[in-house]
Amino acid sequence: MRLQKYMAHCGVASRRKCEEMIKQGRVTVNGQVVTQLGAKVDPQKDEVRVDGKPISLEEKQVYILLYKPRGYVTTVRDTHKRPTVMSLLGSQPVRVYPVGRLDFDTEGLLLLTNDGELANRLMHPRYGVEKEYYVEVEGHPSKSQIQKFIHGIDIGDAIAHAHKVRFLWRKGNSSAFKLVLKEGRNRQVRRMFEAIGCPVKFLRRERFGNLVLGSLKPGEWRYLDEDEVKQLKKLTEAEI
Ligand code: URA
Repeated sequence: MRLQKYMAHCGVASRRKCEEMIKQGRVTVNGQVVTQLGAKVDPQKDEVRVDGKPISLEEKQVYILLYKPRGYVTTVRDTHKRPTVMSLLGSQPVRVYPVGRLDFDTEGLLLLTNDGELANRLMHPRYGVEKEYYVEVEGHPSKSQIQKFIHGIDIGDAIAHAHKVRFLWRKGNSSAFKLVLKEGRNRQVRRMFEAIGCPVKFLRRERFGNLVLGSLKPGEWRYLDEDEVKQLKKLTEAEI
């Protein structure tokens, strides 16, 4: 790519202005002053400085809220050729990654972004970002069994906790609950109910921090607005 074009892409100035800067000897490529306008650079390899300051392509930060349907994997690629959540997004201006994971059979709210810093923080137990689930199970767990979720229940490789549990209804041999977790262990909700002998029949994540599904239908997605991103960032400022 031509040097002045690259500079303009990096947001240094307009292409005309960048050409002037080059002629004035203010631009270096790998430490050498370049005053020729035809010079080419490889943005991946060459280090370009303007007035001594390195420049780089600013990647636009993208935040996507997807209603993941059941029957999709939350990985970028699947070795078993099952459909991936990425296939629902169409082409995006930048590469985005899922923040955490929902099981193949779980539906609901999934956040995807290229903001690695925020993604790491959202997943870190230190910040205890709330995840709310609607869950239907086989059987009728007792109050004392459900209380175990709050105090901590052994799920094999860890003691798992729910932050809140609310009973919703029972019908035939099924019961339904709302569950709020501040942790995010692998298959945590399923394993918590398995631990009390009530396998999960249906699971939907309805909230992630301040984000809710709203009017989205399974398979639909939208970009977060500025305010949602701001609030999400706020959640990861204070440690629990
Ligand atoms: N807990 C589970 O068991 N599965 C999910 O997909 C999310 C939380």
